[in-house]
Amino acid sequence: MNLKGKTIILAVSGGIAAYKSAELTRLFKKEGADVWVVMTKSAKEFVSPLTFETLSGNRVYSEMFVDSSIFNLQSSISMPHIDLAKMCDLFIVAPATANIIGKFANGIADDLLSTFYLSVTSPVLIAPAMNNNMYANPVVQENIKKLKGFNINFVEPGFGELACGDKGEGRLAELDIIMSRAKELLSNPPMPPFATSPSPPLDGGEKGEVKGGRKMGLEGKTVLVTAGPTHEAIDPVRFISNLSSGKMGYAVASAARRRGANVILISGPTSLPVPSGVRFISIKSASDMRREILKEVKKADVIIMTAAVSDFTPENYSDKKIKKEANEGITVKLKKNPDILSEITSKLRNPQSAIRNPIIVGFALETDDIIKNAKEKLKEKELDFIVANSVNGFGGDQNKVTIIGRKGNLDDIPLMSKDAIAEIILDKVVSKD
Ligand code: CTP
Repeated sequence: MNLKGKTIILAVSGGIAAYKSAELTRLFKKEGADVWVVMTKSAKEFVSPLTFETLSGNRVYSEMFVDSSIFNLQSSISMPHIDLAKMCDLFIVAPATANIIGKFANGIADDLLSTFYLSVTSPVLIAPAMNNNMYANPVVQENIKKLKGFNINFVEPGFGELACGDKGEGRLAELDIIMSRAKELLSNPPMPPFATSPSPPLDGGEKGEVKGGRKMGLEGKTVLVTAGPTHEAIDPVRFISNLSSGKMGYAVASAARRRGANVILISGPTSLPVPSGVRFISIKSASDMRREILKEVKKADVIIMTAAVSDFTPENYSDKKIKKEANEGITVKLKKNPDILSEITSKLRNPQSAIRNPIIVGFALETDDIIKNAKEKLKEKELDFIVANSVNGFGGDQNKVTIIGRKGNLDDIPLMSKDAIAEIILDKVVSKD
């Protein structure tokens, strides 16, 4: 999405992740947006306003009142908390500290940023970043919950090593996730902040909360979906593959996005359009898929593996087309591909691991003994759910599946569209049941 003509007010509050906002400014500018930066007093301790002025090409504001006679440029802005709010298409706070979240949630307006927040009417996107214990503190969580109730959008922090040396949830979300969420809000603006209409906000709701007849519950969560077949190359023009269309995975990705998740879709070759608002990673072979999943997996709160990954790949690849004149017949020897799902669950389920423990859903494609085989895969691959289906579902818009949970609970879903199945799978993920 080209951001030309869009004005983004980027607020930077005082945390070490403030340096990442400089890159965010550059990325938004590169996409054509007009970026204005508001900094808190403590943000200026971390990064100089000059950095943001240089990258945005606009003056940086941090004081309530400006003496416009000093600044010939942009002198129409004399009360930034009002004037900038009028120009704003999207207000992003990245990083947002516990302090600024607390001020927003409680109507405290004692500096430019907290006052600006009260006057802005555009969508608001907040990307918190702080120490993991601060983020987990019930007061901070209560403030976030309160703001979500006012239709404020959040990109939840990532998990991992923090600047303070601790490990946990609190790192500023990846910039590409903030970017894709911002683009989504600009192209499809949800209800403005503070609106109190009974209809659900487009960005989802609280965990397990029923909105518009559906449990939303994925707001701000990162959902990693794999889809489609893989191509295992024999030579530059030939490959081994399967009949997967990718429709199930694309339906899951779209449904998760509609529920407010940050969606990463890793897909093998399909003829489907990329669902809007998702981060799309295109791959060909099982080993490409493995590489990309391993890069992304740490960010995921939910992993849904619909892809029909080739179990075998040619042992030898010919980088020149195999010519028929030279060969009466050929034998292609296959070797086993790694089982990606087993590999990631064995890493993620390890209690020593610093990585979060996501909800993992696998698919089982069977011709015989569907339920028995699926149950075995559920156990072996340490999954939360497995969606068992027969090869009859390949390629079509509908499927008949059975969803089996960890506790052995089994749900026979009658024949229905893959879109509807996607919603049922996500309902189960949200309720964990
Ligand atoms: N899967 C994977 N890597 C593989 C093969 C499968 O990650 N090399 C994942 C699929 O995405 C799916 C699940 O494992 O979510 C089960 O895939 P399936 O093809 O049904 O089973 P396999 O484990 O490959 O076993 P088999 O083919 O012997 O039935």
